[in-house]
Formats: sequence, C-alpha cells, structure tokens
Amino acid sequence: MASITIRNLDEATKQALRERAARNGNSMEEEVRLLLNELNQPQPFRAVSSAAEVEPHSIDTSGLAGKRILLIIGGGIAAYKCLDLIRRLRERGAVVRPVLTPAAEEFVTPLSVGAISGDKVFTDLFDREDEHDIGHIRLSREADLIVVAPATADMMAKMANGHANDLASTVLMATNKPVLIAPAMNPQMWSHSATQRNRVTLANDGIHMIGPNAGEMAESGEAGIGRMAEPMQLVEAIAKLISPIAEPKPLAGKRAILTSGPTHEPIDPVRYIANRSSGKQGHAIAEALANAGAEVILVSGPVAIPNPKGVETIRVQTAREMQAMVEASLPADIAIMVAAVADWRSADEADEKMKKENGKGPDSLKLVENPDILKGLGHHKKRPSLLIGFAAETEKLEKHAKAKLKRKNADWIVANDVSPEGGVMGGDRNTVKLISNSDIEAWPTLGKVEVAERLVQKIIDHFDVETLEA
Ligand code: C5P
Repeated sequence: MASITIRNLDEATKQALRERAARNGNSMEEEVRLLLNELNQPQPFRAVSSAAEVEPHSIDTSGLAGKRILLIIGGGIAAYKCLDLIRRLRERGAVVRPVLTPAAEEFVTPLSVGAISGDKVFTDLFDREDEHDIGHIRLSREADLIVVAPATADMMAKMANGHANDLASTVLMATNKPVLIAPAMNPQMWSHSATQRNRVTLANDGIHMIGPNAGEMAESGEAGIGRMAEPMQLVEAIAKLISPIAEPKPLAGKRAILTSGPTHEPIDPVRYIANRSSGKQGHAIAEALANAGAEVILVSGPVAIPNPKGVETIRVQTAREMQAMVEASLPADIAIMVAAVADWRSADEADEKMKKENGKGPDSLKLVENPDILKGLGHHKKRPSLLIGFAAETEKLEKHAKAKLKRKNADWIVANDVSPEGGVMGGDRNTVKLISNSDIEAWPTLGKVEVAERLVQKIIDHFDVETLEA
C-alpha cells in the first residue's frame, strides 16, 4: 500500500498544512486525514440526485429496524438535513420521535418535521399538553438512543455544564441511554477554546460524537471544520451504536496487560509514600482496548475511580505486588505500563505506628529502589510484542523519553508534561507525544478518553501493518 510521509512534502505544502492544522487545533497527520476524508464527502451545495450517490454502503444498517430514536434538532442551518435523516432512518424501519428546540423552529417547522417523522413533535418543556401527554423522563427513557443534530456550540455548552432549562436539555440530563451528537457550527466557533473544552468534557462523559466535517459553510461562504455530518454518515453511526455486535473487533484474539494509578509504599501501618496519579488515563486505555476486542488485564494501584468495563481488574497496593501480578499475567501481545509506580519504598517498614518521641520524629527515612516493572518486561523472555511505557516529565520531555525508550527496551513511549501548571495529574486532559525509535508524533491537547482511543487506533494500525507484512 502507498504511504505519504509529511516530511517528504515540499516546503510550501508543508507550511500550508502546518498553518491549517494549527488553525484547527490538529496535528499535521490528523489534518491530512481530514483532507483525505473530505474527498469522500459529497461536494458542498451539490444537488444530490439520488440517495445511492451518497450512500457508502459500508455498514450494515438493518439493525435499525424497530429501534426508537429520539432526535433532538438544534437551532442551526444544518437543521434542514434532519428531514433527510428522519426519512432515511424511517426507510430502515426505525421510529423517530423529534424534539425541536425553540431555536430549531426558526430553521424547520414542527409541521414539516411531524409530517416526515409521522410522530408528534415535542417542542417545549412548559407546553402543558406535552407534559401531560408524556413527560421529559419518559421521553428520554423510551428511546434506544438519543441523537442531537445539529448540536450547536450553545447546546454543547449546556450539555457539558449540566443545564436543564428547556425540554431538550432536560431530556439530555434525565436520560440513561446512549447519546450521539452531530456538531455543526461556524469553524471559528468550533475551534474556540470554550467549544474544544466542552468537546473534551462531553467525550469524557461518554457522549458519542460524529463530525463535524470540513467544507464550506452554508451561511457565510467561509470554509473549515464545522459542517454537520451528512445524513447517511449519521445513519451509519446510529446503526453502529445501536447494534454494536455487527462491528468487527479489530483487536479480537489479542491479550493486553496494563498498569494504572499510583502505588502506595507503606512506611508503617498507617502512613505511605504515594503520588498524585488518578488512574484516569490507564483505566481509559484499558476500556478502549476492551472495546476494540482485546482481552485486557488491568493491574491497578489504589484509585478512587471505578474499574473499567469489560476488563479484568486486579487491585494492588505496592510496586512489588504490581510487578508480581503483571508477570503472573504473561504472556501477552500488548503491555502498556501507565502506572506512576513509586520509584522508592521505605527500607524498613515499621510493624507498628511510628511514634513521636518527646515531640520528635525519626531523623530520616531510609529508601530503597523499587523494581522497574516496564524495564523488567522489556528484558523478559516472554516480552510482549508491543511494549508501551509512559514518561511523565516536568522538563526536557523528548530527551528523557527517548532515553527511557532505550533503557527500558520499550517500543513506544507516551510522553507527557506533568508540570503542576498543566494539571495533567488528576485532571481530565492530557497533551502527549508518541515517541518510537523512528518517529515523534505530537498530539493536540485531548481528553484522556480521546488519548486512549487514539492510542488504541495506533495499536490497531500497528498490528494491521504487521499482518500485511507477514
Ligand atoms: O523511569 P520512569 O518512572 O520515569 O518511567 C516511567 C515508565 O516506567 C512508565 O511507563 C511506568 O509505568 C514505568 N515504571 C514501571 N516501574 C517502575 C517505574 C516506572 O513500570 N518502578
């Protein structure tokens, strides 16, 4: 298969790509992917003469038959696409119940939406008849999936902050069902740091998202990222969420071992040495690997977050326990050491609580080095074929990460800046560089769930290439 190396592009193209990527808050590689993706999109404003022209037919949508979709239509020009979306969902046997926000009514009328959906259109929380007929709790619970399209910047902000002051936002707060949003807005609004913050929050809250696509804006003649996903893309995303079993699992048959969280190294029965790691990043990677079909064993230090879904989680306290559990879980195809393992432990752990003698504590605390679990795996006779470490640094990120890669015999290092002002430790966002022997890839600031998904996609690509080369 042919491949493009950004390094080999001519300077002018590289500069244009760099500027475009910076404008959209993406890496250059991500921007290339978006540009290539655009080629698959129908051209803006082109009249689509037949459904077949835009139907990619790559995903089986038959699972939509009989499914109930609550479609919240937001107030943006892309609301017109929802009429087509409803038609296509109904053609596949889905039942679509529409909710129109007051702003959406400026773009499409309840009459047209009602005629196409063949159902009652719900418009406002304070409509006495609606509340009497069916309350917001029932509306949210009776659906298999909630779709918000178009999801405006305002709607995303409300969702991210838990507002519930109209029917749409109340339904979204009250639901226990999966939610898919299709953002659509002006490119400047999309790249605004507030919208990007909200996007991360929503991703971390488990909200699914499709788009926005790159292209021309209907209202302003501007171009950039902000166009709502096309109706058929939405139909496919909905089908995938509603009947996920239909999807092939790219890491099925692969076994992964992960470490996550801090370790607690006891000084005496009540005191210990620890660090600020929350376990959020490691747990998110474990769950993303499981979603991709891998068998996942997570060895977690003490954390306050729940065990990830679909993952066998072993809880430990100390580095030595963590190492024993990791090595007992071998062999594995993939090992990702995310834990912030304490480098040292107390040399003489006291059996009883240490006492202040005449108001004086011990003069010093003698420390001994803990085993390096990652390094141990790197030189193990059952070394996993893909070994990934993390490098949390407060300075000289790349230099230290490269040295670590070599010293620990790892394949990749995910390096992140953990200086206190970055708020990575315990926070929800992470800005990382993926470092291998041949490449350094800088990722934009992402939510920890997004970092996890991107890393898992890299792992999938890695094994795809291995299979092709075999
Ligand atoms: O050497 P440093 O602690 O910076 O290396 C970080 C990487 O090594 C992480 O992947 C971490 O999980 C792993 N590590 C380990 N055992 C240790 C120390 C670090 O597995 N004792």
